[in-house]
Amino acid sequence: MAAVHKPKNLLYGILLFFITLTGFAQMPIFKRYYIADIPGFDWLAQFYVTHAMHYIFACLLVALCVYGVLDFVLSKRSFTKISVSGLIKGTILLGLMVSGGLMVIRNLPGVYFSHTLIYTMNIGHLGLCMALITVSFYTFVKKKTWIE
Ligand code: HEM
Repeated sequence: MAAVHKPKNLLYGILLFFITLTGFAQMPIFKRYYIADIPGFDWLAQFYVTHAMHYIFACLLVALCVYGVLDFVLSKRSFTKISVSGLIKGTILLGLMVSGGLMVIRNLPGVYFSHTLIYTMNIGHLGLCMALITVSFYTFVKKKTWIE
């Protein structure tokens, strides 16, 4: 992720920023801490706006990840070339997609999950989100790439 000038990396960075922003907005924390009172930021306190945006950014992020993986596989590069930080971020992203996807299913009408599963998905999704932010900050500062 070091070369931010590459269109794919720039798009990934933009998607990561907005999916995190809309994720936290759903908690909801921006009204509570008066950030939504800043002119132009009131939409951050509207649950269904940020909820729909989170879904849209999730679709785009999944599409970009599928494209990245296919591009890597079809160019016949060896998986041993993936960096340790790339593997960690990829695993976290997969976890976010699984937990996020399960929460999308949970949100459908007529679908009921156990209380423990809902709790685990929420905490798991939030924990993975925090882990991804931390590792991404490290790889950005240290200029680490996905592929060695
Ligand atoms: C890639 C697929 C993803 C899907 C399908 C997804 C879906 C969801 C859903 C359904 C919710 C719960 C909304 C509700 O209360 O009903 C949620 C919450 C949240 N998402 Fe995602 N998400 C994805 C990725 C991400 C990513 C990459 C991040 C940040 C790095 C993120 C951060 C959050 C946060 C902070 C919350 C609120 C805390 C929580 O309820 O756990 N999500 N997401």
